[in-house]
Amino acid sequence: MVLVIAMAIILIPSDFDQNKPSPFKSEGMDWDMPDTNRIPSTPEGKLVRYGMDLIAHTSVYFGPKGKIAAISNGMNCQNCHLAAGTKFLGNNYSAVFSTYPKFRARSGSIETIYKRINDCIERSLNGTSLDSNSNEMKAIYAYIKWLGKNVPAKAKPAGAGIEDIPLMNRPADPIAGKTIFTYKCQRCHGTNGEGLMNESGNEYTYPPLWGEHSYNTGAGLYRISRFAGYVKNNMPLVTSADNRPLTEEEAWDVAAFVNSQPRPQKKYPGDWPDIASKPFDHPFGPYADNFTEAEHKYGPFAAIKKDGNKKR
Ligand code: HEC
Ligand code: HEC
Repeated sequence: MVLVIAMAIILIPSDFDQNKPSPFKSEGMDWDMPDTNRIPSTPEGKLVRYGMDLIAHTSVYFGPKGKIAAISNGMNCQNCHLAAGTKFLGNNYSAVFSTYPKFRARSGSIETIYKRINDCIERSLNGTSLDSNSNEMKAIYAYIKWLGKNVPAKAKPAGAGIEDIPLMNRPADPIAGKTIFTYKCQRCHGTNGEGLMNESGNEYTYPPLWGEHSYNTGAGLYRISRFAGYVKNNMPLVTSADNRPLTEEEAWDVAAFVNSQPRPQKKYPGDWPDIASKPFDHPFGPYADNFTEAEHKYGPFAAIKKDGNKKR
């Protein structure tokens, strides 16, 4: 019973950000998710299933001991796109096929699905991009297309991506976040956030949160609103009566702590060619406003958004 209530609480999306401009036609519709057990046994179905395996076990193929090539940090796509990109508010892929190609302010260009996948390989997996003609890229594409096959063009189902959780009135606090990490995260993610490798050494049982095998400073999770929104609805991974979900404040504070620890530094000078379109929590200047990098990293964000930086 308690579990059911706890689940209900974490699954209710908050719609605090009423002013967020929405380019989508039918935000709020439910995702009619195809059943992954019913991927057909056709050649196309085989490619889709391979794509699903690449999402779930990326490191087995492309990690430091990858059987195809050693081109990434050892993380799996699924570490951040839970249940192979199918979980409600677990950074799922329901709205990818329906909304791409689309304009993204980060690159200032129209991006294809291939480009978006390579963005995560280069930043979240701190790796080297895949050729869009490679069988593996075709398989990942085929899987994402298959997942989105029931979603009308331009539509964004409820629970897609990461939730925009309410902003706080104060800056997120890395010191408070350290305590939360110690009590609620460390037992799986390790004392130094280093995660835990499986016995074969080809995939993480618990992925790293910082250090050399973690996402780099150009990755989405390095923005604390993305980290906090992801963690709020999904971590600690196993939610039970004695392992309660985080409050929103805890999610912001633990995000501030984790993102103040060392990780691979990568600069992307071409990012956000229109500086006025930088998200409020992009931690690297120059900015179109007068707030500092620290303020853009930790907040408080309300004033920054009021100052014209509307982008989430
Ligand atoms: C360290 C975490 C992490 C890992 C690992 C990761 N991603 Fe992502 N990915 C993100 C974040 C964060 C976003 C942006 C979500 C948002 O802002 O709502 C994202 C967005 C995406 C999107 C766009 C989603 C949309 O709805 O616009 C695609 C496609 C994607 N990732 C594919 C991949 C693939 C394929 C892999 C593995 C090769 C991967 N990602 C690995 C964190 C990660
Ligand atoms: C019971 C073990 C467990 C606990 C406790 C836990 N996690 Fe996780 N976490 C996981 C696992 C396992 C994954 C990868 C999920 C997958 O691949 O399906 C993960 C993934 C993540 C990710 C995305 C991947 C990455 O490594 O960057 C983040 C961020 C994260 N956890 C943060 C946290 C935070 C913050 C806490 C504490 C509030 C926490 N986790 C508590 C097991 C746990």
